[in-house]
Amino acid sequence: ESTEPRKWGDYVTVEFDEGIAWVTLNRPKQRNAINPGIVWEMNAIMDALEEDERCRVMVVTGAGESFSAGMDLKEYFRATDKVPPIQRERLFRANAAWQWRRMMYYPKPTISMVNGWCFGGAFQFLVGCDLAIASEDAVFGLSEINWGIIPAGIVTKSVLETMSFRDAMYYIMTGETFNGKQAAEMKLVNKAVAPDELREETRKLARTLIGKNPFVLRQAKTACRFTRDMSWEQAGEYLMAKSDQTELRDPENGRNVGMSQFLDEKSFRPGLGAYRR
Ligand code: ACO
Repeated sequence: ESTEPRKWGDYVTVEFDEGIAWVTLNRPKQRNAINPGIVWEMNAIMDALEEDERCRVMVVTGAGESFSAGMDLKEYFRATDKVPPIQRERLFRANAAWQWRRMMYYPKPTISMVNGWCFGGAFQFLVGCDLAIASEDAVFGLSEINWGIIPAGIVTKSVLETMSFRDAMYYIMTGETFNGKQAAEMKLVNKAVAPDELREETRKLARTLIGKNPFVLRQAKTACRFTRDMSWEQAGEYLMAKSDQTELRDPENGRNVGMSQFLDEKSFRPGLGAYRR
């Protein structure tokens, strides 16, 4: 498998509902381990959703009892050990694209809804997504050490970006599992909720995002990603330039509409919610 399909549905499904695109990894028997089929389909889906009006927020989740058991050791690793290196690199590049390179700067907001097992490579798109909500009983693990490998791809970096240094070292070195509740305490996910509330809580969060100016939301999340690696001086310069760009390009002219609704009409209080769009 070396070319990207234009269609999906064999390994990943997409449902639209109230502006939310529910993107579900659908290999429940293999615990949604990431095989090449998922890689090509996720890239095709991200291409399509970028310009699909039905998608205002993308939620990534897994079918059945798993979020994702990480990379498919059989189909993604062992099966590609002997293919020409250029083909393997193409696959790995496509995987990095959907899991983090593109995901981090995706023009629409993204949420990981962690419904169950979450191991190894799954941390890449868990962290690649802007926000994450987990079921309290989801089970997470950086199990690479148990396989005799290190958390590669971008897993180690992803974990260091979101967990404390001690937590990252601890779970990378021990391979111990932790649950959704612990993941929320460590701030690896935004919050953990009871399993039967997971979808509703995720929907609520997505609906909150849908109420905001979509262009400004995109600018804000992109600025977060870039500012992290900048010095204070660079960040000060970049953020002011980004702010000017936002004002200049915002098709809704949100800044002035919001200001007018607050200062002139006195019809909303920005401290308590978004302006009327
Ligand atoms: N790669 C390939 N196949 C997998 C993977 C995986 N990562 N995870 C599960 N499967 C397959 C199993 O081989 C099994 O296949 P089979 O039905 O053909 O025998 C099937 O999924 C079900 O797996 P079980 O182990 O029987 O399911 P169980 O519910 O008992 O356990 C669990 C689930 C804990 C997720 C277990 O499957 C597991 O430990 N998987 C590996 C998780 C892991 O370490 N992932 C990180 C990989 S390293 C990386 O991503 C870079």
